[in-house]
Amino acid sequence: MRVEPVPAVVGHVAVPGDKSISHRAVLVGAICDGETVVRGFGRSADTESTLEAVRALGVEVVDEDVDTLRVRGRGLRGLVAPAGAIDCGNAGTLMRLLPGILVGQDGRFELTGDESLSSRPMERVAEPLRRMGATIDTTDGHAPLVVEGGELHAIDYELPVASAQVKSAILLAGLYAEGETTVVEPLPTRDHTERLLERAGAPVRRRPNSATVSRAERLSLGELEIPGDFSSAAPLLVAAATIPGSTVTVHGVGLNPRRTGLLDVLERMGARVAVYNRRAIGGEPAGDVEVRASELVGTTITAGEVPGLVDELPLFALAACHARGDSVVRGAGELRVKETDRIEGVVEELRRLGAHIRATDDGFRVRGVPARLRGGVVDVRGDHRLAMLGAVAGMSSIEGVELRGAEAVEVSFPGFFELLAQLEAA
Ligand code: S3P
Repeated sequence: MRVEPVPAVVGHVAVPGDKSISHRAVLVGAICDGETVVRGFGRSADTESTLEAVRALGVEVVDEDVDTLRVRGRGLRGLVAPAGAIDCGNAGTLMRLLPGILVGQDGRFELTGDESLSSRPMERVAEPLRRMGATIDTTDGHAPLVVEGGELHAIDYELPVASAQVKSAILLAGLYAEGETTVVEPLPTRDHTERLLERAGAPVRRRPNSATVSRAERLSLGELEIPGDFSSAAPLLVAAATIPGSTVTVHGVGLNPRRTGLLDVLERMGARVAVYNRRAIGGEPAGDVEVRASELVGTTITAGEVPGLVDELPLFALAACHARGDSVVRGAGELRVKETDRIEGVVEELRRLGAHIRATDDGFRVRGVPARLRGGVVDVRGDHRLAMLGAVAGMSSIEGVELRGAEAVEVSFPGFFELLAQLEAA
């Protein structure tokens, strides 16, 4: 598909529900007593994988409409082992969180994924769950996984890498374990699981650098509204920040401070950022975010900041290309084990468009020029975040971008191109 350059992006939009929270709402809803009504569900290939997974485990899910679901929970221990494997597709969050629930069920469960997911590290989840008393077999550290529960006991666990997925798996398993399970984080990561469990009535304590959970008797969520996905808003906000004359407002978007590092960074670079109507949606901070273009300057992102914008670092690279001076990202080695090696992908694809960017072991360096990139071809490598990066790069370029594999956006944001078109037409 071709993405043509645009003079500016202007308008007001809303984005689909947060993907991280949508996965969690369905997974936790599945082990609640009674029905959970989920509104603002972010429907995408990834979250469809989660719906299929809980259905395979015996949970009835009624699709009321595209973004409203009724999840008929089977209680904490009521999931049923399917005859075959559970296919997690491309969804890392599903494959890493689900074992935390399966270890509390009777039976043996096999989890498989697509080629990309099958190349991602899984020992990081298997190892702590084994310490709790579960049996988890990986395939040389990767999927397919085989999960079997047992008598679980609580652990105190210091995460070797900052990962919300691993933290969440341990906390979910902690619901079934004797004693108090504590996860200590090297850096604070998204706390959607903690917030949701708290809302469901589980005994959870949240702290700046750790979370504790104890055995739960029953969970119940009732009605849950999911805010817009900040990571889906991010490409629109970066388009607004980098294309002169642009102003974009994204309404009703999640603004959990552990997710919005990109806003702080854009502001530091000189973008004009404003947040209106701050409110809570489904127990999460939310609001309307407006970004206006202005001249940007380069900046350094340190390891401590990385978890707050881990999925937005590819877009940061593009903003840095448009900023005056040098930008650096450090301590982001985790990017190498995302859906693709995102350090290699971002650097190689942006270079082909004329960017001055080079990879380091744990990040990248950019020499920014306050002008449009030339444009050219972007191969998205099957990675939804690279597809959105390539699209914004095309809009802010001189010649446009030929986007190879654009359909990868379906993984997290099926209406992405239609929404972009709305902003151009405005
Ligand atoms: C996610 C956590 C992050 C993030 C991913 C979603 C989650 O992964 O990159 O897109 O929903 O918990 P890690 O836990 O591997 O850092």
